[in-house]
Amino acid sequence: MTIHVKNNIHWVGQRDWEVQDFHGTEYKMTKGTSYNSYLLREEKTVLIDTVDHRFSYQFLQNLEMEIDLSDIDFIVVNHAEEDHSGALSALMEKIPGTPIYCTEAAIDSIVGHHHHPEWDFRTVKTGDTIDIGNGKQLIFIEAPMLHWPDSMMTYMTGDAVLFSNDAFGQHYCDEHLFNDEVEQNELMDQCLRYYSNILTPFSSLVTAKINEVLSFNVPVDMIATSHGIVWRDNPTQIVHQYLEWANNYQEDRITIFYDSMSNNTRMMADAIAQGIHDVDPKVAVKVFNVSKHDKNEILANVFRSKGIFVGSSTMNNVMMPKIAGMLEEITGLRFKNKKAAAFGSYGWNGGAVDRIHARLTDAGFETALSLKTKWRPDGKAVRECREHGRQIAKQWALNSETLAEAKPISSPTEIAAPSESEEHPADCQCMICTVCNWVYDPTIGEPNQGVEPGTAWGDVPDYFLCPECNLGKEVFVEHSKDGQEAA
Ligand code: FEO
Repeated sequence: MTIHVKNNIHWVGQRDWEVQDFHGTEYKMTKGTSYNSYLLREEKTVLIDTVDHRFSYQFLQNLEMEIDLSDIDFIVVNHAEEDHSGALSALMEKIPGTPIYCTEAAIDSIVGHHHHPEWDFRTVKTGDTIDIGNGKQLIFIEAPMLHWPDSMMTYMTGDAVLFSNDAFGQHYCDEHLFNDEVEQNELMDQCLRYYSNILTPFSSLVTAKINEVLSFNVPVDMIATSHGIVWRDNPTQIVHQYLEWANNYQEDRITIFYDSMSNNTRMMADAIAQGIHDVDPKVAVKVFNVSKHDKNEILANVFRSKGIFVGSSTMNNVMMPKIAGMLEEITGLRFKNKKAAAFGSYGWNGGAVDRIHARLTDAGFETALSLKTKWRPDGKAVRECREHGRQIAKQWALNSETLAEAKPISSPTEIAAPSESEEHPADCQCMICTVCNWVYDPTIGEPNQGVEPGTAWGDVPDYFLCPECNLGKEVFVEHSKDGQEAA
């Protein structure tokens, strides 16, 4: 199948609906991807990039339905990674003498993967051009470390199409090829996921390369990426978006991620999140358990955040392994201009929290005070976590004038007696949440969580959470017969 892109340009790539993992299992694809290859049929016939090696057979079959392969005058390899150059071996078996235009660094990678040093490589550098007839030229632009040393882009004059390879792409598979044809939020979510998880460490290079391309002052009518859609409607929108992302990007957002052996560190995360919301209701607060949530989604949220909380139970005096893995990834992604704080529950020592704090500091985060809780947080400890969230939220506020006046966090002795209409009978079996005062009445139960009316507190399952503040059974105490809960 081919898709008409513009004038004599056709897409001859491969869609991959099923793929879920990229770079080993480092990048989880939630929307598939595509491997975009382009056929230019001017006076010269040119193929720009191929497809993933797993699709070599289909790629050649499709291409042969379109042209006689021997009509290809030369191939441009913008990037040697297997998802774009993987089908080269199969293609070159059919047209072995065809010139391959690529950067010097690409030769090492292509030969390293395909073991054919005899192929006719033609090295190009930034500014080199090649005439393809009909008054059009290809201009090559090296883009080292975006994201491999060999990466480059190719600009086609006349049609004003930039073949950008990985840059400006996204792992996104849709039957439509152009950006104006697909669901916009879905598209931009995938663009951000791609940038934050792959390109963040190279942000300073992104800025420099874009400014270099802009300095050429050439028109750009389309940006034809090697993954996902082709940008034809307002194509430079993604260029400007990249410039914004590359400039120490952050939103008014705080991400909390943790791992928890016995739910205790999770309780801390809940209370910290509530504390943040108490004083800064405008800030977006996102909470993730690294054992259960998508790692790349968490990293995309870190990318969008002004600050992060990282929590772990202490296990063998170190942090839990998935938290250690996340911190290693965060270190590699080299986030800039972000704040961080560590927290966690422990039993006999709190080594995890100290180690997280040190790793966050080493990774370049401006670290705030850490918080440890011994064993399962009781009502007092939960209040301390909530207060901790409040204090850090104030420190990290982008605009202190918009902070809310938080109500005092109630303690058992501070909870007001219920009004007459709320009085409970002498044989009351109710339980009260020491954090928010929500009352569990066994005669009513909590049907939203599957707790039927008539369920005694002792029979309420351990997974039960206070419907008001989402904390566990641990923070509930008996409602006393005179209306005051027991201390
Ligand atoms: Fe760097 Fe799409 O491969």
